[in-house]
Amino acid sequence: MKTIFVTGGAGFIGSNFIFHMRSAHPEYRIVCLDKLTYAGNISTLKDIMEDENFRFCRVDICNRDAVNRLFDEERPDIVVNFAAESHVDRSIEDPSVFLQTNIMGTGVLMDACRSHGNVRFHQVSTDEVYGDLPLDRPDLFFTEETPIHTSSPYSSSKAGADLLVLAYYRTYGLPVTISRCSNNYGPYHFPEKLIPLMIINALNDKPLPVYGEGLNVRDWLYVEDHCRAIDLIIHKGRLGEVYNVGGHNEMRNIDIVKLIVHALGKSEELITYVTDRKGHDLRYAIDPAKIHAELGWLPETKFAYGIQKTIQWYLTHQDWWEPIVSGDYMNYYEQMYGDRLGHSGR
Ligand code: NAD
Ligand code: TYD
Repeated sequence: MKTIFVTGGAGFIGSNFIFHMRSAHPEYRIVCLDKLTYAGNISTLKDIMEDENFRFCRVDICNRDAVNRLFDEERPDIVVNFAAESHVDRSIEDPSVFLQTNIMGTGVLMDACRSHGNVRFHQVSTDEVYGDLPLDRPDLFFTEETPIHTSSPYSSSKAGADLLVLAYYRTYGLPVTISRCSNNYGPYHFPEKLIPLMIINALNDKPLPVYGEGLNVRDWLYVEDHCRAIDLIIHKGRLGEVYNVGGHNEMRNIDIVKLIVHALGKSEELITYVTDRKGHDLRYAIDPAKIHAELGWLPETKFAYGIQKTIQWYLTHQDWWEPIVSGDYMNYYEQMYGDRLGHSGR
């Protein structure tokens, strides 16, 4: 039996990856390391908590002693690092924890991999490390050769981690891979991010805060497709390589918000244009040719279907998001949007 460490497994993509691995590879022992920050939700994992092939450990990946102890105990074969501070707006408010977790934490994990027999390490990164593309050049896409050119403290911290991962490959021969994925959506997405925020606010007849004019473009991928890509990369990917993951699914923010409003039978009057995000990236668009050619990966979920499935999930899982929305998140919401709501970005 192989043991896989999944860091950040109580968050959005990490938890979906744990569920994916359990059904695709039931022979794996899965150990989830998560600090349970505001974005980590232990209730997401409640159905598998008692499984004998699953263990949850509340661990900060920056805590070298705790990480090493767990490596000593479990002797993992693979580490997949999802743990991160992941929200751009929070990074603009306070970058420090992003540098700590996203860069230093990645270094701690890789040091533990090195000192425990050169454990296979996969870094879950983002297309945001490439910066943005102009809105009027739909012919341009991010390839793995696109220069790193970050905009936010979040993307800079992820880029810093990527460079460190590649340095550990070259300098120490640590067996690493990196995936750089576009925006994910699906179940267990924390309601500070665009899609779940808009679904939940619309359900509650609250304003839908669209930054600027809502013309920014993101390349959306259903989370299960991302999980399948990581599964392929950790088993068949070439060491030392970066793989872009995305599905040619570009959408303007405003079109997504309107789609959600209509799907829920609400009024477009809920849409409120607010002051734009500082340094707001215009367009992300991935060229997934490499992962397709080398590993045969293609996205399977069309956006039209995936978004309806996602909306349905939020409608039937109020017990998951209501405690989040009513708790600490409300303070955060006030802090982030208090003086922005009502301001017209037009
Ligand atoms: P998330 O914010 O939903 O979850 C992050 C998880 O990491 C949480 O469970 C949190 O408790 C945990 N965590 C944070 N700091 C930690 C620490 N110091 N030690 C241990 N655990 C810690 O994030 P997500 O959207 O699931 O993203 C997961 C990864 O995928 C991140 O590395 C992110 O950069 C990357 N990514 C996300 C997207 C996206 O669209 N969400 C796209 C591309 C890449
Ligand atoms: P987000 O979900 O934060 O992901 P990212 O910034 O990593 O792409 O935001 C997606 C897009 O939606 C981005 O262009 C910012 C925009 N946005 C809004 O217009 N309003 C909001 O309240 C949020 C959270 C995001």
